Amino acid sequence: MNLKLLQQLAEKRIYLRVISLFLVVAYISSCAKIGRKDYQEGKTVHGDKAMVVSAHPEATRVGVEVLEQGGNAIDAMVAVHFALAVVYPAAGNLGGGGFMMYRQPDGEVVSLDFREKAPMAAYEEMYQDENGDIIDGLSLAGPMASGVPGSVDGMLTAHARYGTMPLKKLLQPAYKLARSGFPVTAKQANNYNRYRNTFIEHNRDSTVIPLVKLDGKWEEGDLLVQKDLAATIKRIQDEGRDGFYKGKTAALLVAEMKAGNGIIELEDMAKYEAKWREPVTGKYRGATVYSMGPPSSGGIALMQLLKMSEHFPIGELGFHTPETIHLMTEMERRVYADRAKHLGDADFWDVPQEELLDDEYISKRVRQIDPNKATDSEKVLAMQLNHKESEETTHYSIVDANGHAVSVTTTINSGYGSKVFVSGAGFLMNNEMDDFSSKPGVPNVYGLLGGKANAIQPEKRMLSAMTPTIVEKDGKLKMVVGTPGGSTIITSVYQVVLNVLDHQMNMTDAVTAGRVHHQWKPNFIFPERDALDPFTKKALEKMGHQIKERGSIGRVDAILVGIDGKLEGAGDPRGDDWAAGY
Ligand code: DON
Repeated sequence: MNLKLLQQLAEKRIYLRVISLFLVVAYISSCAKIGRKDYQEGKTVHGDKAMVVSAHPEATRVGVEVLEQGGNAIDAMVAVHFALAVVYPAAGNLGGGGFMMYRQPDGEVVSLDFREKAPMAAYEEMYQDENGDIIDGLSLAGPMASGVPGSVDGMLTAHARYGTMPLKKLLQPAYKLARSGFPVTAKQANNYNRYRNTFIEHNRDSTVIPLVKLDGKWEEGDLLVQKDLAATIKRIQDEGRDGFYKGKTAALLVAEMKAGNGIIELEDMAKYEAKWREPVTGKYRGATVYSMGPPSSGGIALMQLLKMSEHFPIGELGFHTPETIHLMTEMERRVYADRAKHLGDADFWDVPQEELLDDEYISKRVRQIDPNKATDSEKVLAMQLNHKESEETTHYSIVDANGHAVSVTTTINSGYGSKVFVSGAGFLMNNEMDDFSSKPGVPNVYGLLGGKANAIQPEKRMLSAMTPTIVEKDGKLKMVVGTPGGSTIITSVYQVVLNVLDHQMNMTDAVTAGRVHHQWKPNFIFPERDALDPFTKKALEKMGHQIKERGSIGRVDAILVGIDGKLEGAGDPRGDDWAAGY
């Protein structure tokens, strides 16, 4: 072999080495990219493009990763919703319902109602005994408390119209979290331990309740594995809507209901349909607010509050001053009185939406307010018409890189709903029937009153307070906001909107700030403990208000778009709520 040939071979080898080294480096860096986290996460997160805020870090990560893969806000919503059903069973759900507000970059806003509905066999007095007295707890726990669930149809309906990624792929993270498990947070561990006996009391077989640990207590970091739930999610992945509303899942659900006098039938399941609704819209301080119409009371009540607030210089009067709290209380007193009388499912009841939001009516309500004196709630009447008349829910907010925004509040009503797991299907059923007015004058679990407008009827949707909201300013997205909290939902969203638009707070401060609630009856101002200083409380008492401090109110998960277009995501410090964005 001559020298030249040897040289050529050596060069070739060097070339080959260089090429393979290059290929190895490229491979390693592409692997690193796949596993790399390109987003920030925390209680408060700032981002240039996209953001997800939900009640649980695992669900938030699932959502932001869908956005990173090029999914839009609706894709992320579907992934987050199913993930929450796994990692946040107190309120995340397949067995419940909710409402979605969706804003597209061109400014079009739509809303979807996937609220539960009364089964076909439901009737007005179903929670009363032969004397007409309410049977304690019947609308709150056990199979009779459940309405026909709407969440799965809601997610699939929104996805069919606006989604871009395959459903199967979007449900895969939830499937994996259920099948392989996820580490529970400290709050969850405590909660599951606290509910242990309640779960055992309300379920047929305590050995199959995923949240009951038979061999001891839950500790932070323990893995929660939910194999039956994984199988249910897989059926939805494989069969779509029919994987839940028909076939095995529906059969398991109906069997569970029948085992305890429940009245949901296969036909109820097959017939359930989410409905597109007209959003409730109004102006406030130059911004446009979009929120949920009936069967939620949230949009109408929020808009009444905002319209009344425009009559007062709330910003100048100051945050949590006696004057501001007094005025807010007086407005709330009137709005909740109207709610009790006039609001219900508009498919069954003639809701006087226009009249309730009419400028003259709002001004009349404002004129009734004495700036120095509390009104007796007994003397506050609802609008007179000339014609006939634990707290666990969860909210998530999403903005994608193209400016689509989603605001969803979803619930199984109180914590862990009816407490009944569908055996073999692994999910909890709602106790949403309690949101109907079981009897005029008898308050529901949140102390809310109602009458004919919200009486039980077959296939009617129970009135809700959920208030998923989107705010825009100068034609651009400004805020995505919502919260759980039963009757306090409306006033919490109201306060966050005022905190930003009147008190000029950033999103984190607006979400963190103490909250105060009034709902007409009972006639108390309910501030979170320490939300009001002693001077303010004294001044309010002098005006004739009664004050009852209480534990935390709501868990607001919200996104604010700054004037520079940057996003601020804020997860409420009151819970495990978590933001992630980039
Ligand atoms: O729809 C409603 O208004 C109630 N079922 C919401 C319940 C709720 O927010 C409980 N959570 N804190």
